[in-house]
Amino acid sequence: LFQWDYELMFSVPSYACQRRTTLENHNAVLTDALSLLAENAELSDQEGRGVAFRRAAAVLKALPGPVTGLTQLRGLPCLGEHSLRVIKDILENGASDEVESTRQSEHFKALKVLTGIFGVGPKTAERWIREGIHSLIQLRESGHTLNRAQQAGLLHYDDLNRPVTRAEADAITEVVVRAVVAVAPGAEVTLTGGFRRGKLTGHDVDFLITHPEEGREEGLMSKVVSWLRSQGFLLYEKTTRNSYLESTEGPARPASNMDRFERCLTIFKLDEDQRPGSEETKLWRAVRVDLVVSPISQFAFALLGWTGSKLFERELRRWAGHEKAMSLSSHALYDNNQSRYHRATSEEEIFAHLGLEFVPPSERNA
Ligand code: GTP
Ligand code: MN
Ligand code: MN
Repeated sequence: LFQWDYELMFSVPSYACQRRTTLENHNAVLTDALSLLAENAELSDQEGRGVAFRRAAAVLKALPGPVTGLTQLRGLPCLGEHSLRVIKDILENGASDEVESTRQSEHFKALKVLTGIFGVGPKTAERWIREGIHSLIQLRESGHTLNRAQQAGLLHYDDLNRPVTRAEADAITEVVVRAVVAVAPGAEVTLTGGFRRGKLTGHDVDFLITHPEEGREEGLMSKVVSWLRSQGFLLYEKTTRNSYLESTEGPARPASNMDRFERCLTIFKLDEDQRPGSEETKLWRAVRVDLVVSPISQFAFALLGWTGSKLFERELRRWAGHEKAMSLSSHALYDNNQSRYHRATSEEEIFAHLGLEFVPPSERNA
């Protein structure tokens, strides 16, 4: 009898977009640890390290069962020396010193608290920490002038750091549909982001809005936002023009398409049922909502691009570039060999152009 016959070995393809990753994660202890190191790297301006930890965590999320020994991981992609060391520590000792000391570190805790404010990124947080600001109280006392987003973020800090439930996402969907129907009958609203992937909670609710007649989506965002504002649903909103020209992903598209792709970052005021026996008098909560408007000709690309996960998206673009000499964005797919754009009216067609098996949203949870 050979011992190795009894060892369960795993095998997974190397790009996350070649894999099916459901929400069922058999290795949450390991992936939580690696995700914490990824988060720390991302907050510390070490994007490369962050991606490496995210890729390693994603490989473990795709495994059909729990890892019990390092030998099971032999031959798996994306598991670098550093990630393997963390995995080994947890398998052997139940915890990783590096992960635990990062989790406890004042610097990491301060970065988390400060970037937990909507409108505050890692650079701003780092600057404040260097001035000795580690908490919301210290920030308030510092007398720093905050921009409009940060003021709203600070004001609604607790609400915005409380997970949004599926029921709350559904309630917000109803409001957004009402707004869109009121200003543009025939326009269509699609829930994207984590909720489209089947997640039970999210940090925000994401929507993609389009109109089946090309061009009719123009001016839609400002009408929808005006309606929402007039009905008292908005605590904050900021619309930004499509920044596709400035983006480094792929070649620019013709100017006629430039100003049609808009996004609006908002904070919704969502009425809440009063919990029985609750002494709270607040009858609503704040929820982050992202609205994106896309022309129908780009809808499939926008839908694919805004459904996530972030790592799945990154891996799709890496696959396109490295394996197919194509540039994928939320607007288009450009083929560098054929020097032309590939049209698509569905996500399935985009996967086919990329030479990938179709992965449904619920299996893009890499
Ligand atoms: P939670 O909201 O945390 O539950 O997860 P999520 O997956 O919904 O994350 P998020 O709302 O941050 O993003 C949803 C999708 O939109 C992800 O795939 C992102 O990559 C994508 N996304 C976010 N910001 C941008 C952006 O500025 N441009 C484009 N093209 N995509 C973006
Ligand atoms: Mn989201
Ligand atoms: Mn979002």
